[in-house]
Amino acid sequence: MDAIDDANQLRETPKNEVMSFFESAPLLKDAAEIEKSLKEFVDRNTSSSGNLSGKANRVVCITSGGTTVPLEKQCVRYIDNFSSGHRGAASTEYFLNAGYSVVFLYRRGSCQPFCSSLPDDPLLECFSVADDSSIEVDALHAETVKSAITENRAAVAEGILLKLPFTTIFEYLQILQLISVSLRDVGPSAIFFLAAAVSDFYVPWESMALHKIQSASGPLDIRLTQVPKMLSMLRNEWAPMAFHISFKLETDTDILLAKANMALKQYKMHMVIANELSTRKEVVIVVTEQEKVTVRRDCTRAGAEVESPLVELVVDRHSTYIKKFDA
Ligand code: PMT
Repeated sequence: MDAIDDANQLRETPKNEVMSFFESAPLLKDAAEIEKSLKEFVDRNTSSSGNLSGKANRVVCITSGGTTVPLEKQCVRYIDNFSSGHRGAASTEYFLNAGYSVVFLYRRGSCQPFCSSLPDDPLLECFSVADDSSIEVDALHAETVKSAITENRAAVAEGILLKLPFTTIFEYLQILQLISVSLRDVGPSAIFFLAAAVSDFYVPWESMALHKIQSASGPLDIRLTQVPKMLSMLRNEWAPMAFHISFKLETDTDILLAKANMALKQYKMHMVIANELSTRKEVVIVVTEQEKVTVRRDCTRAGAEVESPLVELVVDRHSTYIKKFDA
């Protein structure tokens, strides 16, 4: 798998592979509605007269959660990519606090902003049915439930948080393309913060079984096609002026930094955030052309998250980036 991954990283993404991915993908439902909400979001949160140094015009697209690869058109089975969505959800909160408006492209059912302190099954653990059949919040969770609901709804109602869900790799990449085209005119004030765990292999729609694959026919042989890496399309074609941040996840620390460096150069990312699966909540390494910064969670503070200093650092480097464009 590593040899394949390396080979994939060292070659340019051919445009015909990108075209054939999109041409064969099932049509995105609600594409028109998504485009409309993106247009309204961008119009509301950016103004052409604004000074680039101010935070008012700054927008970040945060991708979060894992994409699935369906094995059947009427899908019963699928391959999944690991990601709880915690990184993306927590980062959304810190970017909102820093004055950014956020497009949150997330996997259905994954972690949501402002909900990290809720128990695993909030509906069953936070609520009770009273004698008069009304629903009550248990005192222990009242504050957490109240702030999760109010802060989430306030950000959406204020129009500074736009939430767009995906499940499959087809939905994810089509929506990411719509977002990047919509943010194109935001120029250097836009960040792409690509924390989603994106499938590297997929079954092309035209060669996918229609119905549930039958187990009676014995062991299953499937040929998976490589998903074209969209980072270079995003960086060079879809939103070339934006500040681009990709993530590198590995389970082997010995190869992590080399892989992050490779991604930085290959896809001309402005920043690659390297993390190791088992320590991802404690520490990440931010790799840029100029520096390597280790960012740690403040373990002296209860409830502190690594995303807090991470987003602070990103905002600082983004400010430096956009200063170059400020006349
Ligand atoms: O969600 P959590 O549980 O909190 O965990 C967070 C995280 C570990 C998922 C996150 O921090 C992280 O590392 N996300 C990226 C995981 C990943 O898919 O890494 P990768 O090495 O496979 O891909 C590297 C980059 O290439 C990613 O930014 C991805 O968006 C991009 N990519 C991947 C595949 C593909 N076909 N096209 C892409 O553009």
